[in-house]
Amino acid sequence: MTTPPAATFDPARTLSSRANSADEGAIIRMAQKSRELRAKGRDVVALTVGEPDFDTPENIRDAAKEALDKGFTHYSPVAGIPELREAIARKLLAENNLPYPASSVVLANGTKQAIANAILSVVSPGDEVIILAPYWVSYEATVRLAGGTPVVLPSTIAEGYKVPAERIAAAVTPRSKLIIVNSPCNPTGAVWTRAELDRIAAIVAGHPQVMVLSDEIYEYILFDGEMTSFGSLPGMLERTITLNGFAKGFAMTGWRLGYAAAAEPIAKAMARMQSIVSAGANSFVQRAALAALAGPRDKVAEMRDAYRRRRDMVIAGLRAIPGLSIGDIPGTFYAFPDVSAFLGKAAGNTRITTPDELCDWLLEEHDLATVPGTAFGAPTSIRLSFAASEDDIKKALTRLASGLSMLR
Ligand SMILES: Cc1ncc(COP(=O)(O)O)c(C=O)c1O
Repeated sequence: MTTPPAATFDPARTLSSRANSADEGAIIRMAQKSRELRAKGRDVVALTVGEPDFDTPENIRDAAKEALDKGFTHYSPVAGIPELREAIARKLLAENNLPYPASSVVLANGTKQAIANAILSVVSPGDEVIILAPYWVSYEATVRLAGGTPVVLPSTIAEGYKVPAERIAAAVTPRSKLIIVNSPCNPTGAVWTRAELDRIAAIVAGHPQVMVLSDEIYEYILFDGEMTSFGSLPGMLERTITLNGFAKGFAMTGWRLGYAAAAEPIAKAMARMQSIVSAGANSFVQRAALAALAGPRDKVAEMRDAYRRRRDMVIAGLRAIPGLSIGDIPGTFYAFPDVSAFLGKAAGNTRITTPDELCDWLLEEHDLATVPGTAFGAPTSIRLSFAASEDDIKKALTRLASGLSMLR
């Protein structure tokens, strides 16, 4: 009797369909490529990652050190420490006109995790989630992870990158569960006015199965216009999951702390989701976040003013490049120029037909790293993050102008 040959084990074949279909994301890919080129000695300017180049303000760092020294190193309650949930509820009322009780607030290890908690809590397989494009990359991936169906609605630079309400209304079906609103918006910098949000509220009011996920993480990086929290609109508090975090406004990306606030049954479900994958958020970071909320906001304002100066530089630089279109940037630290005029053109033997090819070429030939709009559901744009030094921004604008001028 012969024994059958032992089957060889191939770890790659063990991957789930979920893992196989998940993409690491264009932002991470472009950032990685720039690191590789830098390691080879190239002077790459990277405007890829949405990360403040400022250090976390001192009062916040001190509070974390004190918390560590006082032994604040144990597990936190899953939804967060009570003092911070209360402080966030006070902040949401005072600054955003959102009267959530503290029991509605759930802390998470980053706003990314808060978004995942929210989507996993309300989206069942087959449910549809309306995503207004251009959109931040993680929304679509997380909806897919939850088994939901992303329904992506594009918008144009001429529309100020805000999908008109009629198109949103036409996309609502009995399976629609969520509409994701992100204002100020990554990647476009668009800020939705109260009147525009009112029109979305009217749609939500007509469909009792639909809620809004309102991602307000860039609220402090606002230059023009005013911040309207979707949940503050009449009748919308219960219909909204509000998301926010400490990463952008307080320059705390590496600390990993964000939160969601929602009607209590949803808040409880979000805490359950989190208890499965990670338990409570970092304990001593929550003490630091208390200091962030209670302390002075002068550093937050200084950082915003620096981003405003850079925004002005970037807009002036981009508007001086023939063929490039750029709208206003009322908030965030991103520029999202439309590069349609360059697609289909060539430099020597290299023909550029997509923003991905354009970004690869700008990086390989001109040492400038940006992110293709395709990653954000916008196939005719590229994203530049101006959370970078003024020197880097100047270099980047020069390289972009000279690179694009070679395309014919
Ligand atoms: C729109 C938006 N929401 C959420 C996040 C994630 O924030 P956090 O670092 O708190 O996970 C980002 C980060 O880039 C973002 O741009």
